[in-house]
Amino acid sequence: MCGIIGYTGHRPAVPLAVKGLKSLEYRGYDSAGVAFVQNNKLTTVRAEGKLGNLESKLETMNISIATSCMGHTRWATHGAPIERNAHPHKSWDESLAIVHNGIIENYQELKDQLSSKGYGFRSETDSEVFCNLIAEGVKQTGSLEKGLSWAVTQAEGAYSVLVMEESNPNVIYGARCACPFVLGVGQGENFVASDVPAFLAYTRNVVFLDDGELVRIDANSWEVKNARTLEPIEKEVHHIEWDVQAAQKDGYKHFMLKEIFEQPRVVTDCLAGRVDWQKQEVLLPELGTLPVPKRLHIVACGTSFNAGMWAQHLFESWARIPVSMEIASEFRYRDVILEEGDMVLVISQSGETADTLAALRIAKEQGIPVVGLCNVVGSSIARESNVTVYTQAGPEISVASTKAMCSQMAVLLLMGLSWAERKNLLDASLRTEMFDGLRKLPNLLEAELPRIREDAKRLAREYSSARSFFFLGRGVGYPLAMEGALKLKELSYIHAEGYAAGEMKHGPIALIDPEFPTFAIALNDQFFAKVKSNLEEVQARAGDVIALTNPNSDLSVKHKWVLPDVTYPLSSFMVLPALQLFSYESADYLGKDVDQPRNLAKSVTVE
Ligand code: M6R
Repeated sequence: MCGIIGYTGHRPAVPLAVKGLKSLEYRGYDSAGVAFVQNNKLTTVRAEGKLGNLESKLETMNISIATSCMGHTRWATHGAPIERNAHPHKSWDESLAIVHNGIIENYQELKDQLSSKGYGFRSETDSEVFCNLIAEGVKQTGSLEKGLSWAVTQAEGAYSVLVMEESNPNVIYGARCACPFVLGVGQGENFVASDVPAFLAYTRNVVFLDDGELVRIDANSWEVKNARTLEPIEKEVHHIEWDVQAAQKDGYKHFMLKEIFEQPRVVTDCLAGRVDWQKQEVLLPELGTLPVPKRLHIVACGTSFNAGMWAQHLFESWARIPVSMEIASEFRYRDVILEEGDMVLVISQSGETADTLAALRIAKEQGIPVVGLCNVVGSSIARESNVTVYTQAGPEISVASTKAMCSQMAVLLLMGLSWAERKNLLDASLRTEMFDGLRKLPNLLEAELPRIREDAKRLAREYSSARSFFFLGRGVGYPLAMEGALKLKELSYIHAEGYAAGEMKHGPIALIDPEFPTFAIALNDQFFAKVKSNLEEVQARAGDVIALTNPNSDLSVKHKWVLPDVTYPLSSFMVLPALQLFSYESADYLGKDVDQPRNLAKSVTVE
């Protein structure tokens, strides 16, 4: 996600902001920029690509010694990663500038309102809408503080935002709603940033801002208020001892762990602006530009393939769309029959996977529409697909894909509902069940993750000497089992195979003995009775079983790993982090390189 730094104090602020942005590089970005006041003029300098491009631009300019500055690294969500869309954004009258992280869900509605009041827009971003909204707030209320507070009451979504005025650049305001924001308290200088590393070189005194808070800094003072009522809020100053690397991981030992724990937030971000909760409708305008496919070919690799296979079940049963699952490296060399009315859905976190990209090109050559489901804006797959739907998961740094799969599943589920709706097949009770369940999911997941981790840790230690594992499931549990096995082998180098539980007796069961444990997905859903009987077969051969299941399930296995009751198929969003955490804890306990497993690359750009 984007990186933000705001500084006001006694040092040259522009180089300080660029240095702060460098320590936020781990968050991922595709453009960067700074705002400061020079010769009484609010000035922004922005560049596509890496911070080096911004620095080169700044070197060619005669920058005065500004002592206040806002800086931003942008991870594109709305609008391509080009200079025009980079932050900071100035209001239409150029009186103020903002840097923003997050998504303004109702930006289109706000944009229409602001346009009718004469505001213009120079970019395609939701952030510029927020900027003009604050300017309108200042106009209506007479001050930046009140104007920002008013804007906060109008904007829906998740954000952290900083704003600076041309007329008074030595005071910077910020507001937080569900995106990280911290205040750094220095001597004769203060900072607000997305994360602590941005200012760790100058101060270790930190105030953690909470949702719904507004912050004001100048060189010598700071204050925090309720963003809506402007009532002052007392905040505690913490002294932190972390080094920069630990701070980048937000205190987590590994990026993988941090990313697993980000999943509640990821679900919220995926749904942002894509669900009308009142009407219980999915809003995926990108998809609406193409007809509902008569037949769908899902093409992907690795974890993205598993996400696609999970969605196959929903597309078939909800929208009655015949789906074929295709491993990209196979699809590209088969003579696949593609016909009129077909659609190819390519899934890729990075948007750069060579085989998936090749498959996309083959489909396009044959005139078949391609929908790309990607996380990285502006990636090759995103650019070349006829329609791109973004997962909005934020950058994934750990090589092992975790939150990306969660985001893919969330968006795929919405696609299934949307296609079912368009075919008039969406059953009213399913609609209510899914919308109610989706609304509750992020909080439930957030509450459960610490306990799931504790269980994972305990089991990982107990099974740390196993040399092989089966992962079994049926229905949507089968692709999850494949993902569980993939995670375990790539992280801990323990041999693991994901199988459809019903296939066991066609060969693999011969391997079962007391040293060969089985990990099963046996939730209280339509597949339970069948999985249960497959597990009895395993136990009859003295096999040891860990089963992810629900309270009160009628299952007798060595380890019942109980997850809360969640409606099908949303229950998968509980199973996924359990599998991820089991692998994470196994690898960590065995001393493996969790974030960079051997022989693997984050983005597989060669065949
Ligand atoms: O970027 P993509 O989603 O296209 O990558 C596909 C696979 O290489 C990827 O999912 C891989 O399997 C994961 N890193 C495994 O954790």
